[in-house]
Amino acid sequence: MSSTTLFSPFQSTNLSLSNRIVMAPMTRQFSPNGIPTADVAGYYKRRAEGGTGLIITEGTTVNDKVATMDANIPQFHGEAALAGWKKVVDEVHAAGGKIMPQLWHVGMARVAEKAPFPELPSAGPSGLFKPGKQGAEPMTVAHIEAVIEAFAQAAADAKAIGMDGIEIHGAHGYLIDQFFWEGTNQRTDGWGGSMENRGRFAVEIIKAIRAATAPDFPIVLRYSQWKQQDYTARLAHTPAELEAFLLPLSNAGVDIFHCSQRRYWESEFEGSALNLAGWTKKLTGKPTITVGSVGLNDDFFGAFKGQDSGTRAVDDLLERLDAGEFDLVAVGRALLQDPNWAIKIKENRLDDLQQYSGKALATLS
Ligand SMILES: Cc1cc2nc3c(=O)[nH]c(=O)nc-3n(C[C@H](O)[C@H](O)[C@H](O)COP(=O)(O)O)c2cc1C
Repeated sequence: MSSTTLFSPFQSTNLSLSNRIVMAPMTRQFSPNGIPTADVAGYYKRRAEGGTGLIITEGTTVNDKVATMDANIPQFHGEAALAGWKKVVDEVHAAGGKIMPQLWHVGMARVAEKAPFPELPSAGPSGLFKPGKQGAEPMTVAHIEAVIEAFAQAAADAKAIGMDGIEIHGAHGYLIDQFFWEGTNQRTDGWGGSMENRGRFAVEIIKAIRAATAPDFPIVLRYSQWKQQDYTARLAHTPAELEAFLLPLSNAGVDIFHCSQRRYWESEFEGSALNLAGWTKKLTGKPTITVGSVGLNDDFFGAFKGQDSGTRAVDDLLERLDAGEFDLVAVGRALLQDPNWAIKIKENRLDDLQQYSGKALATLS
């Protein structure tokens, strides 16, 4: 199977990439006190040198005291952290790559006692981490507005230090997804209730980012049906519901949707082979990124317990890409394991591809 399309340039209205391979955002708690070090720059530079077209960084937190759950997760605010990130950008660019930070607020996934500012309660639309698990009071409107502003400021800072765009982390049951999901958003004001109201927090973030950056600054939104709280949860059960969810986000200014699945080959709705990225592209007309077990045969949940995974051929992925189902392909663990994954695929060095070792998580170099 030819990988010509995978290694063809990507060109949209405001972003050009040398190929279709994207490094998926992967948290690594290697930034003491939230400040990315020279090691972080080296880690991303190696993936750029290895032929990855676009790097999306690990989740990096916006300026809200309760945005993070660990002091070693990098932050995206403050002079020292931004200087660290500037070094990352410069090294990736010098290696011929492109890079965007994944802007993150963990919401109710934060365990206060283990996080910075343990005296402060965690934040969520209804103070719920999952249905029935009340951990705090609902966020005040003033706090909601402050977090929207924090996302906008982070995006403005990303632009100022030369990032090629930003990704908003709207997936996996963290703060923005806690607004999207009925299970964690039980508000009765304008921020909860209907699908439109549950989407408003993200819509306002997207608009504020657009206003704080430039009309052509790339905005990627990552979202998922599944939640860490409930793998079977879904935001949309039908294409019509998915359309109602996506169109306000698209109209607010999302340039590219990053559609998180555990396995890219799984179809989203009965009666069609399209996956989540396929449906999202069809419904919005915007470019999309697919993700989930590319090059591997076990999904990533086991990775957090140190589980290994064997390799898997990518022929079916290339067929879908060739057919135009989606535009870009994000690769997580395979790139964690092997910075040269892209080059090896390009050169068809399939015997050189490595199994994913659960131990990779401990070093993440
Ligand atoms: C160690 C690790 C950390 C992750 N951290 C993040 C994160 O910060 N943000 C995010 O959106 N997804 C995160 N993910 C999910 C990945 O971006 C990706 O969607 C998932 O690993 C599936 O891709 P893969 O099967 O190619 O690994 C993480 C995954 C792993 C394995």
